[in-house]
Amino acid sequence: PASVGFMNEPVTDFSRAQNRSAMYDALATVEENLGNNYPLIIQDREIFTDETTLSINPARPEQLVGRVSRANRDQAREAVDSAREAFVAWKKTSPQERADYLFRAAAEMRKRRFKLAALEILEVGKTWKDADGDIAEAIDYLEYYGREMIRLGQATMPGAYPGEENLYFYEPLGVGLVISPWNFPIAIPTGMVSAALVTGNTVIFKPSGLSSVCGWHLAEIFKTVGLPPGVLQFVPGPGSETGEYLVSHPEVDFVSFTGSREVGLHIVSVAGKTEPHQKGVKRVIAETGGKNAIIVDETADLDEAVRGVLDSALEYQGQKCSACSRVIVVDSVYEDFALRLQRSMNSLRIGPTDKPWNFFGPVVDQISAQKIQKYIETGIKEGNALLAKPGPENGFFIGPHLFADLPLHSSLVREEIFGPVLVLLRAPTLESALCMANDSRYALTGGVFSRSPQNIQKVIADFDVGNLYVNRKITGALVGRQPFGGFRMSGIGYKAGGPNYLIQFMHDRSVSENT
Ligand code: SER
Repeated sequence: PASVGFMNEPVTDFSRAQNRSAMYDALATVEENLGNNYPLIIQDREIFTDETTLSINPARPEQLVGRVSRANRDQAREAVDSAREAFVAWKKTSPQERADYLFRAAAEMRKRRFKLAALEILEVGKTWKDADGDIAEAIDYLEYYGREMIRLGQATMPGAYPGEENLYFYEPLGVGLVISPWNFPIAIPTGMVSAALVTGNTVIFKPSGLSSVCGWHLAEIFKTVGLPPGVLQFVPGPGSETGEYLVSHPEVDFVSFTGSREVGLHIVSVAGKTEPHQKGVKRVIAETGGKNAIIVDETADLDEAVRGVLDSALEYQGQKCSACSRVIVVDSVYEDFALRLQRSMNSLRIGPTDKPWNFFGPVVDQISAQKIQKYIETGIKEGNALLAKPGPENGFFIGPHLFADLPLHSSLVREEIFGPVLVLLRAPTLESALCMANDSRYALTGGVFSRSPQNIQKVIADFDVGNLYVNRKITGALVGRQPFGGFRMSGIGYKAGGPNYLIQFMHDRSVSENT
């Protein structure tokens, strides 16, 4: 159910000249101010460290976006101590008061909307549309979780029994560690941080090194709206050092993570170890990867299907956990669909996404580009490349790729690639298409294009995914409308932007008084 009074933030209409010029102005302003140094934020202190992480523009690697301080162990320990100290008072603030900080942060984001989007375009290579959508989603999380906490904050009394008064209510877990990815550099950390804060926890926030300038802006917004010192600390640093230390710290009560399956599983195992004096077992909430499939049956509107698959597979260069990376087409329409898809993929404009006419930008960094390139080489050996498009020379560009005739055991069919590589699979019937679709360790998103009500019902019943989409793209879940998250290797926990999400950041208590 939608939370009372919640409405999704509208996205910006860039067909209006005034919005286009606002975006060009924001890009110019952000570009003029690139290359700054960004500090850690611990309690209310800004700390500039000697060791820094360089964040660069993936479309123009010579352009430095920012130099971000790195927390060492001592600073990470200090962050945990101040979070622990701040927890005492923060826990006692009312849900309404905590929600008000989120609403104020949402208002601040609205004011900075174009600049934040411009920063995303330059720091991680989003298109105008995707960057703008990311800020809208961040605002949605703040507005939605604020309202959700007000709802959950009302203590309830189960039933009325003579001589006894019962109370049931939620309390925060304590100190939380939020580790966020680079692919939704404002929305995802905003969602995780705001959920943890509004439920009464204090937070240590470690963004991905590839989007840590965006991360800093998020922390700074919370500072601007007056969040008390120590309630949120900004502690960037390498996962293998800062992250590892914080995950294993006995005073961290929970970890909220979004990122790869590999790192997610590592966090689960490290967080599972307890020290002799540790009071509780850490809770891990993790949203990890996907190997998402779209099924196209013989009744599908192929024009719609081509568009839906194209957007799902190639928006943001396929770097969304929700992205489509397998398209399973029923035999009788396979050739026709393959040809249309290949032509439409071939027509995309590739280039730096500060230019709004480029649909397709760079992948996020050199390491990603190399990893994706390896999959492409395997695809060329094991299958048939229907499309293999290079990108511009400068920058981390890899054009769209479409492979067919791959063996089902191929790594391209089974592993999450996180790039613009789409695999086309042929199925004799809808049943076999469903078997192929479900033959994965992941269960995040999935889709079907069909005009047969029976087939649609069958897919709804039998396609094992957290988010299923019928006759539309499988990315772009909206807060409060399509609560988002998967199961199996795709994650642990309740769906983001849904009615159960906040509960996992708290424990529930029951009090019974003999009157
Ligand atoms: N929520 C995003 C989507 O639905 C993925 O993280 O595309």
